[in-house]
Amino acid sequence: MRIPRKLEHVHHALQLGPGGNNGFGGIKLLPNCLPGISSDQIALNSRIGELTLSSPIIINAMTGGANETEEINRELAVAAREAGLAMAVGSQMAAIKNPEMASSYQVVRKVNPNGLVFGNLGSEATVEQAKRAVDMLRADALQIHLNVMQELIMPEGDRQFNGMLERIGAIVRQVGVPVMVKEVGFGMVRESVETLLSLGVKMIDVGGAGGTNFAAIENARRGQPMGWLNDWGCNTAISLLEALEAKRRAKTDVSLIATGGIAQTADVCKALTLGASAVGIAGAFLKVQRTKGTAALIGRIGAMHDELRLLMTAMGAASIEALQSMPVVIGGETERWCGARGIA
Ligand code: FNR
Repeated sequence: MRIPRKLEHVHHALQLGPGGNNGFGGIKLLPNCLPGISSDQIALNSRIGELTLSSPIIINAMTGGANETEEINRELAVAAREAGLAMAVGSQMAAIKNPEMASSYQVVRKVNPNGLVFGNLGSEATVEQAKRAVDMLRADALQIHLNVMQELIMPEGDRQFNGMLERIGAIVRQVGVPVMVKEVGFGMVRESVETLLSLGVKMIDVGGAGGTNFAAIENARRGQPMGWLNDWGCNTAISLLEALEAKRRAKTDVSLIATGGIAQTADVCKALTLGASAVGIAGAFLKVQRTKGTAALIGRIGAMHDELRLLMTAMGAASIEALQSMPVVIGGETERWCGARGIA
């Protein structure tokens, strides 16, 4: 029997691991030898759009839509509940087209009835499908994922991207919950972010390169027909800086989320210090859960919270908001990129 695509993605994501450079190596946090705060004062709550998060770390969209994925979603949801993290499910289109698949997503709401749960669909979704995805989970928000290069690499993938802006705009206006638009690991540049802002999007996950690599995954599934595209995209640090520049120019209150190759707490702290309101982690959490179990994942998230408090104390930032206004030094390739792109 053919292995469902959703499971192949899980297996290849685990096998390939993070794909290279997330860009945060070029960012340097500044020490504060006079922090004037105590560690037990540090608050980790954050805001994205109109949602309040008790942690700035989000378990990002991965799976659903096949039997084994129900177990993965259940275990990730237990971790989300125990650690107080918001969690997104993978694309719900499988269940929109095939309603008996809904339980593989609904399990997330079942084990975490009071947690923050995000639905997920692609930009091909209609308003009606978006509403069904939200209802399926009683979702607190809906993610719309963008994955153009992944589609183009798949022989059966989409080739027509007409109308996506109109559909995203209509979903933002009509779905009835906050909408987050996210890339899946190819990143975003200022011009794309500006377009999303013009549609009224208030939460953007820049989904940069440097972590799970869907070009490499689709190529690995088929014997590398287009391996030359495996380094397509902008890394996460650069994507975040591009999005911050769009936000600065537009003078709007959009919340930015950084995902893509984030596994270490130092990178969480760097993303927040640059100006992200939250970070998303997918592949690194999947790996801990699948190889070491749910208790280990809960332990890892707890350790990341402790490490983040430690770094925030050493920087003199008692809140995520305070962290966001701390200075950083940007060097190396990222500095050159910012210069070439006129990013202040
Ligand atoms: C994903 N990701 C994803 N994103 C999305 O919006 N809808 C989806 O269905 C999926 N499916 C999916 C499956 C698997 C197995 C993985 C690992 C990831 C992308 C994910 O949310 C994230 O944007 C990227 O994985 C980059 O983050 P990491 O993995 O580098 O932390």
